Amino acid sequence: MILIDGKAVSAQIKQEIAAEVEQIVAAGGKRPHLAAILVGHDGGSETYVSNKVKACEACGFKSSLIRYEADVTEAELLAKVEELNQDADVDGFIVQLPLPKHISEQKVIEAIDYRKDVDGFHPINVGRLAIGLPCYVSATPNGIIELLRRYNIETAGKKCVVLGRSNIVGKPMATLMMQKATPGDATVTVCHSHSRDLKKECQEADIIIAAIGKPNFVTADMVKEGAVVIDVGTTRVPDATKKSGFRLNGDVKFDEVAPKCSFITPVPGGVGPMTIVSLMKNTLLAGKKAIYQ
Ligand code: GUN
Repeated sequence: MILIDGKAVSAQIKQEIAAEVEQIVAAGGKRPHLAAILVGHDGGSETYVSNKVKACEACGFKSSLIRYEADVTEAELLAKVEELNQDADVDGFIVQLPLPKHISEQKVIEAIDYRKDVDGFHPINVGRLAIGLPCYVSATPNGIIELLRRYNIETAGKKCVVLGRSNIVGKPMATLMMQKATPGDATVTVCHSHSRDLKKECQEADIIIAAIGKPNFVTADMVKEGAVVIDVGTTRVPDATKKSGFRLNGDVKFDEVAPKCSFITPVPGGVGPMTIVSLMKNTLLAGKKAIYQ
């Protein structure tokens, strides 16, 4: 069994990005600039955004954090999105989700200029991904593809089961795995809460990508000997032994599943660090105007 070290791979990629940024700047180019909008004080969102800002520093990017209280109006938020759309110094920006209930996430996502949508959530980027055109790809699925690539994991012709059909992980993950590409070219099945025989689907899978947000959902009896298991789960569960009072728990019952696997990602230290580095890669692409002018 090989433990996939997302932390090490992400550190390596950050170095690669930082080296490229210094070359760009030395040649008289512009330092990439990522802006992030954070609404409210949700613990998870605070951590994610703070990690994104730190990653920007490590990559040599400029970053701006724009904060609002949870009672900000939708109109105020949309006005800021428009301001960032127009700001020539900002190469890309994100609005951290979830947003408070009185704000339409879809409306906000669609208000972002798709050319600055480094999260890859805008329908134009999602649509372009679906038909295999250059676009910003959602960070978590893109990070998983990068791990599969760097560990030389064969995907062509393999049976891949994606657990979960969210817009930001499950759906784009399935799209990427079925894409005519390397990694890709897999036979993909997407399972969700209404799937009839999810366990049997998993038992037949060469690759399982678990993104349902249910701690310890994937157990040893669901996994074929030699399978590749990618765990996207990051549920916070109370843990008195931790300073924060919680720990992150994956969707996979790691201790019993790992011995059966050829490759497996741990939680934490697997997919998580790759998600942030994928956003950094998209920001670099935005800075270089590599996808859109
Ligand atoms: N909330 C959870 N994941 C993400 C992400 O990748 N981007 C944004 N903007 N919000 C999120």
